[in-house]
Amino acid sequence: MKKVITYGTFDLFHYGHMNLLMRARKLGDYLIVALSTDEFNRIKNKESIMPYAQRKEIIEAIRYVDLVIPEQNWEQKITDIKRHNINTFVMGDDWQGTFDFLKDYCEVIYLPRTQIISSTMLKEAIQNHPQ
Ligand code: CTP
Repeated sequence: MKKVITYGTFDLFHYGHMNLLMRARKLGDYLIVALSTDEFNRIKNKESIMPYAQRKEIIEAIRYVDLVIPEQNWEQKITDIKRHNINTFVMGDDWQGTFDFLKDYCEVIYLPRTQIISSTMLKEAIQNHPQ
């Protein structure tokens, strides 16, 4: 079985997220999403609108996703790859090159981002059009 892993916050789940997860899953037979915890988001200065529990429920409901685990720090990737016998690490190409050091442990693939949509854009739209 070929196992794939990807990391992210996936706040205000949108089509770009779905498209990334669909393509990641097609690279193997089993997809793990390491989902940033609220604490880790604060460390990254990337506070999410939706709390971890809600983001997790949504990601778990996506048919392309087999398992959701917490992402709690920058250092856990090598441990995750070894523990889950990962064959392929996938990220959107906004991260191009950043995780090439993982090539010692598995295949590393950067997928083209979906144009136009992002969590940041949705957040700004919400803030500019309050109820
Ligand atoms: N992603 C993508 N296409 C988009 C938005 C995100 O392929 N339009 C991918 C990212 O490259 C990453 C994953 O989805 O691999 C999770 O991205 P995340 O940072 O949670 O979402 P963004 O919408 O990029 O959020 P932000 O605007 O806060 O950066």
